[in-house]
Amino acid sequence: MVVSSAVQDRASCLREQLNTHSYHYYVLDAPTIPDAEYDRLFRELQALEAAHPELLTADSPTQRVGGRPLDGFMPVRHRAPMLSIHTETDTRPQGAQSFDIQVRRDLGLDADAPAVEYLCELKFDGLAINLRYEHGLLVQAATRGDGETGEDVTQNIRTIHAVPLRLRGPAPAVLEVRGEAYMSRPDFERYNARQRAAGLPTLVNPRNGAAGSIRQLDPKLAAQRPLSFFAYGLGEVQGWELPATHAALLDALAALGLPVCEQRAVARGAGDLIAFYERIAGQRDALPFDIDGVVYKVNALDAQRQLGFRTREPRWAVAHKFPAQEELTRVEAIEVQVGRTGAITPVARLRPVFVGGVTVTNATLHNADEVARKDVRVGDTVIVRRAGDVIPEVVGVVLEQRPAESRPFVMPECCPVCGSHITRPEGEAVARCIGGLYCRAQRREALRHFASRRALDIEGLGERLVEQLVERDWVRSPADLFTLDVARLAALERMGVKSAENLVAALARARQTTLARFLYALGIREVGEATALALATHFGTLDALLAADDERLRQVPDVGPVVAAALRAFFQEPHNQDVIARLRAAGVHWPETVPVAVPANTQTLAGKTVVLTGTLELLSRDAATEQLRARGARVSGSVSKKTDYVVAGRDAGSKLDKARQLGVTVLDEAGLQVLLGDG
Ligand code: IVH
Repeated sequence: MVVSSAVQDRASCLREQLNTHSYHYYVLDAPTIPDAEYDRLFRELQALEAAHPELLTADSPTQRVGGRPLDGFMPVRHRAPMLSIHTETDTRPQGAQSFDIQVRRDLGLDADAPAVEYLCELKFDGLAINLRYEHGLLVQAATRGDGETGEDVTQNIRTIHAVPLRLRGPAPAVLEVRGEAYMSRPDFERYNARQRAAGLPTLVNPRNGAAGSIRQLDPKLAAQRPLSFFAYGLGEVQGWELPATHAALLDALAALGLPVCEQRAVARGAGDLIAFYERIAGQRDALPFDIDGVVYKVNALDAQRQLGFRTREPRWAVAHKFPAQEELTRVEAIEVQVGRTGAITPVARLRPVFVGGVTVTNATLHNADEVARKDVRVGDTVIVRRAGDVIPEVVGVVLEQRPAESRPFVMPECCPVCGSHITRPEGEAVARCIGGLYCRAQRREALRHFASRRALDIEGLGERLVEQLVERDWVRSPADLFTLDVARLAALERMGVKSAENLVAALARARQTTLARFLYALGIREVGEATALALATHFGTLDALLAADDERLRQVPDVGPVVAAALRAFFQEPHNQDVIARLRAAGVHWPETVPVAVPANTQTLAGKTVVLTGTLELLSRDAATEQLRARGARVSGSVSKKTDYVVAGRDAGSKLDKARQLGVTVLDEAGLQVLLGDG
């Protein structure tokens, strides 16, 4: 059948449109059309190709997941060997210096020669891949293998949307692009959430996810574990004039439609390398993908040629590692902890291990399902992860090293602290001790929360002290705290008269608070800091809040049926009414304010960009962010000309300076309250 030229034109126009949209979506991270419109164009092209198979081309976006499952991967001999790079293991920022010293020596530069220019990149934690483009068309993708011979994984790499099937613009005869295939953290979390929901095994980390996806023989399964790609170098090249620097090379690759990571910078001398290392270390946890360090490369390609190679590593590049976020250690015991609301959390006690910059001895196992799914047992060797300030967790077990006599962990039926029953409502992941404030663990946690900095902020009422007060039964509810006097307190362990006096003074100060802090301090389920503030703002007085019915509660922004039910359950409980009455009788008070009704879902800050910096006193960073976002604002980490407001708390530093330089409006915390409509 002859295909009319109108149909041919339509097919090529659709291909072009879809490829352009994909490029904007996956490479530039700036979608140009709604997903539904993309799907519509995609289906139209699929229908045309189904009716006229002769229209199919290798670069058609419908052909990303094609092909049949393979029996195995074919070997690919690399035309230019895929080398690795030397690793600088000194994880202090100053570790960068040795590379600069070595490069200067190898280039024969003396002390007063100018600084060497470098291009700094991230060290992505995925798998090295060679993409071969012939006349612009992706013809082959291969793994690194032993550096000489890799495996043909073209089918799987084609499923990566960020990898162009055809290069943009005039194309060289041959261009081999080297880079890293990786799984982004959001894709990793989504994949694991889906697997968990289906009761299927989860991935230990994104790197294993990427390796598994690439080693998948069936491309349809590979496509279900979505990967991304960053280009960082070249293999064989024919018919293309190389730029003069690595920086220009990366720009050229980006111009050809390849994804190149934004976080890259030209550095002059060791000082700049150190600054780059420090800057990226600070951003590490906020990046949407895992990195294990940074890479420094001599920028001028001439100088790279001059430096050449030492056996399998170039002399012009080095990887500078960050401290590891994952390490192996042994589980010495599994215990359960009882939280403020009675939630039972299994915790692994670990042989101490240095990971993510601290020594870790405990890691959460989240809940019973999680322990069962990961099948973590006493005696197991496990992978522990600690990233940023997130609590350490066990991400997987090394089954090969499991001792023969090990037994699966069984959740206790009774609370290890008070002996009450542990219940687990159907459909809920969390098991709870039903002991309430009878349970000393819950009482202790409730008191710690009550005294914490963002609640009543009782200075000096630390963990050890709370422990003793609960053990001796001196304090059964937060209200009892205000009955303590110096003579009694001074009798406690590690307390002198002076500390006792200080604590009594701190209690006196804490009596004067705000309604928002008071509500937060009560530890009502579902009522975090932001909700407490919203309630206080909306009702103005505690009595107005106590008198509110479901309907009135739900007029408060962010209060839905769940929060409203939790509030009513709490306030209806006679014990809680008693505690509130006793706290007020003990002199806990706050200024009453005129209620400010912020109607739900008002986007008063839509389109505004706000940067928070320094220490905020009234609201935590998280709560302020939540409140701003609820009003439609974008909360950003860096100040630019596009920033509308910078909120500067105590000890604000460089961001405040930059805001002043750029003439951006600077607010203090009172200004923030006004901005939120709460002031
Ligand atoms: S350049 C000749 N740049 O780290 C230089 N490698 O041993 C070749 N990697 O297996 C490598 N991020 O997979 C380079 N920005 C980056 C990288 C990077 C990650 C990986 C690569 C290789 C290993 C280096």
